[in-house]
Amino acid sequence: MSARGLFITVEGGEGVGKSTNIAFLEAQLRDRGVDLLVTREPGGTRLGEELRRLLLAVGEEALDPMAELLMMFAARAQHISTRIEPALAAGRWVLCDRFTDATYAYQCGGRGLDRRAVGTLEDLVQGPLRPDYTLLLDAPASTGMARARNRGELDRFELEELGFFERVRTTYLEMAESSSGRYHVIDASQPLEAVQQQLLKICIELTACWGVRHPQP
Ligand code: TMP
Repeated sequence: MSARGLFITVEGGEGVGKSTNIAFLEAQLRDRGVDLLVTREPGGTRLGEELRRLLLAVGEEALDPMAELLMMFAARAQHISTRIEPALAAGRWVLCDRFTDATYAYQCGGRGLDRRAVGTLEDLVQGPLRPDYTLLLDAPASTGMARARNRGELDRFELEELGFFERVRTTYLEMAESSSGRYHVIDASQPLEAVQQQLLKICIELTACWGVRHPQP
């Protein structure tokens, strides 16, 4: 049986360059022979993408924070059981754009929900599953918001006020501090080249440390 794959998550506020840098990481890891599943939350499955559409839509009815939280975990339960867990069990690596740390940052930090409620759902939905490695792309909330606004139409989260994103950022940085073994923080306000130099170093270290299972010819 193959060894379990590595579960990598990428986190950060709005406009920190997650998509560009995840595409860069994906290319670098594949070049090094990593058999990789690239996915995202909320999303990654039909149900998850449908829930994502509802979560991001700017609707007439305000979404209750607890309903929002449960929708995130409903999407996550489906994602774990049908995609993440089977990939890891088969020895594939998983590169996931956001995971439960986003719930702590947005639903607890941003919306003010109780961390214990999220902890209970985390245990219930994930069992022992936790990311092995988390990259936090960090930039001041005002920088990220300015970039997000330049991209065009804003979704339901991007319409929040600056204070919301400052609380999201603070929560991410607190988690990085308290789980420093798992977290790697990158200053995403640097030029893209400097960010990607750091990402390249991380790819080299991860593939060297964890060993890469080369696909069979
Ligand atoms: P994205 O467009 O950056 O991928 O993420 C979609 C939005 O969903 C983003 O504003 C953060 C938010 N989100 C939460 O609020 N809680 C969560 O658990 C996750 C995964 C995302």
